[in-house]
Amino acid sequence: MPTVIYVTGDGRRIKVEIETGSNVMEGAIRNGVPGIDGDCGGAAACGTCHVLVDEGRFALLPAPSEEEQTMLDFVDDARQNSRLGCQIKMDASLDGLIVTLPVAQH
Ligand code: FES
Repeated sequence: MPTVIYVTGDGRRIKVEIETGSNVMEGAIRNGVPGIDGDCGGAAACGTCHVLVDEGRFALLPAPSEEEQTMLDFVDDARQNSRLGCQIKMDASLDGLIVTLPVAQH
């Protein structure tokens, strides 16, 4: 299974295996990673799964949908490498992905 490394606001690195086809938000919720709530269940409608993707992998992700981009315009602490965790579906090409949780979410 591909892994994701979550970097929390206090600097902890939490490594989680995520089934192919599941997303970064679901992986965080199932493994108790603090700082990702996933309030809307993955509908790109709440922004509580906002993550900052490591620069090396950011360009590999498909472009955000219109719904995701609209939500990203509203989240706190948005940056150029911001994405919604619920919209990042895991597969082998993303193994080792590092996502940082914005300080505003803690
Ligand atoms: Fe709500 Fe991702 S879980 S936007």
